[in-house]
Amino acid sequence: MQPEPNRSEDPNTAVTLVAGASGYVGGRLIPLLEAQPGVVRCLARNPDKLRPHVRATTEVVPGDVLTPHSLDGALQGVRTAYYLVHLMSGPGDFEKDDREGATNFARAATRAGVRRIIYLGGLGDDADPDLSPHLRSRHEVGDILRASGVETVEFRASLVIGTGSLSFDLVKKLTDRLPVMLCPRWLNTPTQPVAVDDVLAYLLAAKDLPPGGSRTFEIGCPEATSYGGMIREYARQTGRRRWLISVPVLTPYLSGLWLALVTPAAFEVGRHLIEGLKNPTVVRDKAALDVFPIRPMSVRAAIQKALGDTTG
Ligand SMILES: NC(=O)c1ccc[n+]([C@@H]2O[C@H](COP(=O)([O-])OP(=O)(O)OC[C@H]3O[C@@H](n4cnc5c(N)ncnc54)[C@H](OP(=O)(O)O)[C@@H]3O)[C@@H](O)[C@H]2O)c1
Repeated sequence: MQPEPNRSEDPNTAVTLVAGASGYVGGRLIPLLEAQPGVVRCLARNPDKLRPHVRATTEVVPGDVLTPHSLDGALQGVRTAYYLVHLMSGPGDFEKDDREGATNFARAATRAGVRRIIYLGGLGDDADPDLSPHLRSRHEVGDILRASGVETVEFRASLVIGTGSLSFDLVKKLTDRLPVMLCPRWLNTPTQPVAVDDVLAYLLAAKDLPPGGSRTFEIGCPEATSYGGMIREYARQTGRRRWLISVPVLTPYLSGLWLALVTPAAFEVGRHLIEGLKNPTVVRDKAALDVFPIRPMSVRAAIQKALGDTTG
C-alpha cells in the first residue's frame, strides 16, 4: 500500500494513532490527546470494549499487532503513532510475540508513511548480561521500531507510579497485606520510578518535538530508590508500620506472595516484572532534562499523588 500523497499538515486534521489504547498508560493518554487539535484513532483488539471510554469523535479501529493485515488500514493517514503495547499477558513466548508485534507494526507504519513512532519501553543497562527477558525484550522492541526507518522516540522508564499501574499496585497490595516481609536482597536494587503524570507529559511533548531522527530518552523521578524504599514510603504515607527483613535468597517465596496479589489475568505480567527486579533500572542519561521542559516529581510526591488519585 502506498502512503497517502497529500496528507494534511494541518494540526486540526492530523491523525494520531494509539496502539495499546485500552492499557494503563494508553488509557490515560487518550483524554489528553483528545483535548488537543487533531484526530485521535485507537487501535484495539476489542473495539466494543474501548468505545464507551473514548469521546464520540475518537476513531476506534480493530487491529492486532500479531495480525499484520489488520494494521494497514489503522495506520493509513497517520502522522504520529504511539506504541504502548506489550504482549507479556499472553500464554506464549512473549519475547517472540513482542518481536513479531513490533516488526508488524513497524512495517505497516513504514508502508503508511507515518512520520513518528513514540514508544514507552523499559530502563535497564543493555550491557548487563543478566538483563531480564522482560527488559531485554522492551529494548529489542525499541530497536525494531527504529530499524524501520520511521523516526522513533523511545522513552525508557522503570516502574510507573500511579493508581492502576500493575507494578505500583503490587507494591501497594504487598504493603497493605504484610506487616513483616522477608525480602530477598534484590528488594534493594536501585530503581528510579516515575509518576504517571510525568510519563504522560513526556509522551505528549514527544509529539511536538522538531524532526531530528530517532532518539531514546531515559526518564524517572529525580532520585533513585528501590522496591524496598517504595514499600517504606508507601507505608509511611498510609500510616502503616512495616518491617522488611533482608534475607540472601528467597525469590520463590516472595515472588509467590506478590503473585498471589494479582488477578489471574495479570499473573503472567507480574511474573515477568518480578524477574526484572534484580536489574538496576536507573536514569544514566539525563538528556530528557535538556530536551523537554518537564521536571519529574519526586518519588514521595508521585506516591502522594497516586494515593489521592481516585480515577483508577
Ligand atoms: N506500567 C508500568 O509500570 C510501565 C513501566 C515502564 C514501561 N511501561 C511500558 O508502557 C507500555 C504500556 O504499558 P501499560 O502498563 O499501559 O500496559 P498494559 O496496561 O498491560 O496495556 C498493554 C496494552 O497492550 C495491548 N495489547 C496486547 N497485546 C496486543 C496485541 N496483540 N495487539 C494490539 N494490542 C495489544 C493491550 O490491549 P488489550 O486490551 O487488547 O489486551 C493493552 O492495551 C508498555 O510498553 C510497557 O512496557 C509500563
